[in-house]
Amino acid sequence: MGADLEKVLISKAEIDAKLTELAAEIDRDYAGKDLLIVGVLKGAVMVMADLARALSSEVTMDWMAVSSYGAGTKSSGVVRILKDLDTDIAGRDVLIVEDIIDSGLTLSWLISNLGSRGPASLEVCTLLRKPEAAKVRIDVKYTGFVIPNEFVVGYGLDYAEKYRNLPFVGTLAPHVYGG
Ligand code: IMP
Ligand code: MG
Repeated sequence: MGADLEKVLISKAEIDAKLTELAAEIDRDYAGKDLLIVGVLKGAVMVMADLARALSSEVTMDWMAVSSYGAGTKSSGVVRILKDLDTDIAGRDVLIVEDIIDSGLTLSWLISNLGSRGPASLEVCTLLRKPEAAKVRIDVKYTGFVIPNEFVVGYGLDYAEKYRNLPFVGTLAPHVYGG
């Protein structure tokens, strides 16, 4: 696995420290509320697991799986639900937890879909954001790191379903792409 990587962009220690910060903010903002955090499978698994454990508040957790039609590493904005929530979110305070926002097309679809179910509030927390690729404006309440517009893997993020289990975020060596 090591030979496939170009460099470590964000170390495990940096991720841990950032999630601790974000968790403290979330604890503060949702004090006294009954928060539901929603992870978007599969990429957000690591962020959800570590963020949830960094929170002091009691939260409930649910998951959604969506597929974004589009070739390879590009998202099209046409989204299909593969797994819906088990929870009725009407009247609930909901926080969507994402691994990365690239074009924002998937998330913008998700926000309008969940928004139509009548939650009391609906916000977004993402570990990573690529600002240069933003095609749609999305209000993101909690952002971990703004990263350059390059393809990253690790900590839940994959290339062809690989590298999700890396404990850090890194970039791939060009030969992995067939270069
Ligand atoms: P968007 O719809 O373009 O914002 O793309 C959202 C999804 O594309 C993310 O949830 C990821 O699953 C995937 N994605 C976007 N950028 C990357 C990347 O750099 N590495 C791995 N997956 C990515
Ligand atoms: Mg994702």
